[in-house]
Amino acid sequence: MKEKIISLLDQTIEELDKDKISDILEIPPKEDMGDFAFPCFQLAKIFRKAPNMIAQEIAEKIPESDDLSKVEAAGPYVNFYVNKEVFVKEVLGKVQKGYGSSDIGKGKTICIDYSSPNVAKNFHVGHLRTTIIGNSLYHIFTKLGYHVERINHLGDWGTQFGKLIVAYKKWGSKEAVEERGIPELLDLYVKFHKEAEKDDSLNDQAREWFVKMEEGDEEALSIWKWFKDISLVEYKRIYRILNVDFDHYTGESFYRDKTGAVVEELKEKGLLKESEGAMIVDLDEYDMAPCLITKKDGSSIYATRDLAAIFYRKNTYHFDKCIYVTGLEQKLHFAQVFKVVELMGYEWAKDQLIHVPYGLVSLEGGKLSTRSGNIVYAEDILKESVSKIKEIIEEKNPDLEDKDDVAHKVGIGAIIFNDLYNQRIKDVTFTWDKIHSFDGETGPYVQYTYARAASVLRKTGLTEVGEIDPSLITDPTSVALLKEIEKFPEAVKTAADRLEPSVVSRYVMGVAQAFNRFYHENQCNIEDENLMKARVKLVILAKNIISDALELLGIQCPEQM
Ligand code: ARG
Repeated sequence: MKEKIISLLDQTIEELDKDKISDILEIPPKEDMGDFAFPCFQLAKIFRKAPNMIAQEIAEKIPESDDLSKVEAAGPYVNFYVNKEVFVKEVLGKVQKGYGSSDIGKGKTICIDYSSPNVAKNFHVGHLRTTIIGNSLYHIFTKLGYHVERINHLGDWGTQFGKLIVAYKKWGSKEAVEERGIPELLDLYVKFHKEAEKDDSLNDQAREWFVKMEEGDEEALSIWKWFKDISLVEYKRIYRILNVDFDHYTGESFYRDKTGAVVEELKEKGLLKESEGAMIVDLDEYDMAPCLITKKDGSSIYATRDLAAIFYRKNTYHFDKCIYVTGLEQKLHFAQVFKVVELMGYEWAKDQLIHVPYGLVSLEGGKLSTRSGNIVYAEDILKESVSKIKEIIEEKNPDLEDKDDVAHKVGIGAIIFNDLYNQRIKDVTFTWDKIHSFDGETGPYVQYTYARAASVLRKTGLTEVGEIDPSLITDPTSVALLKEIEKFPEAVKTAADRLEPSVVSRYVMGVAQAFNRFYHENQCNIEDENLMKARVKLVILAKNIISDALELLGIQCPEQM
């Protein structure tokens, strides 16, 4: 519809081209101001006339069209009123199954590096965010036809494992590690640091064990692998709860035989400099601290493994973009690493390597139960959310079938939605009452709306309605709902362009709110069969689009709530 109005304006105003007209054309804040408005302020200079007069003249000159019911000047604006029936017909025609999908990504590959927890450490709330955001970006890019490689860059290599091995050998037991898993490993790690303050030789031993690991020592590697396997069991439990998956669990250790070649290449290209025994790439010229490449003892670090990972991914997956979802605190790290790749002569580093940072998580109101002390485990939060929703269901709808399944979908959905509702760079807070509310701007509200639509279909006994008469759904709330639904492809595309799932969560909130307004104004289970079918058609569209949009966020919809 917008295109049609632009074209009418284009025929009327010779002085402006289509792009300019499109920039100026706006959607008025209120229904009674028309569906589109064209402000004439910018034309005042060109025509040397008052905007009001220009608006008057344009309104008179716009050719008659079946698409419009009225064109009218209102002060400096030309307001366009769309012919509702034509509009309804048009939207019904294009909102088919798969609406919102596209093939703009066809033949292109995107690597998304997300979640990536640190082995032997707790999967904390920050990791929950990268997991949720990365998973949503995966769905969004897939919807646009991209091929996505989902990569879990586990923190499974580094000096900390030397420390852990020393601590395990001194104070640990096989049984305790097997029984308690990560909390036991964390305790050992904490104990190491406490003891090392008193006895510095522990640090030397830790370094020796890590050197052994790097040299492929069997004992060192088998303990390390055991810690890693134990940690993975816990992480995969979380991924199952969240319904998240990966194509590759290629953590830092995967690159340990691949860092040497990078160091060689840096040397050859004259980029390496010695600094207090360590090797660095100087980034002074770019106002950044130097990028550390190898330590005094020659061992590689986090950045070296990230460099190796970039070349491995480029050569293996031939990515068009490689996206990293981590907290904002790693901004400098990625800026340095990307700069080094660019300095090595790889121009693609400039626009193909992208850091996607996000803000902090804080826990507010309602104490969180945690397994040990003040360490917050993501898994506990997920479980607490599910059990709280279960309580709400027991109270509100005790006869509901599959209560556990519903509580799971809604409890997890509430957390995901809360995480993705604001721009990712903003901090996220958990306030249980707020995120679990069934009538705020929450996941449960949107899921409840979906269940409400499903319930209408059950009550009317209709699941498909075929052709309907569009003139029966031209009332304001029906048209408003269709307007919201129509925006889906634009929302998906904008979300991908900005790497911002919140565009989709805002979109689906708009649909849910419009649906509820429609629902309150329009009875569906009625005698008049044609009218019933026309309204049910809208219910079906809204229901499908809500579940498609929530799917892009990684949220599932229960049919009843
Ligand atoms: N393991 C890191 C952490 O927990 C995140 C890794 C992000 N990915 C990367 N390629 N550096 O902070």
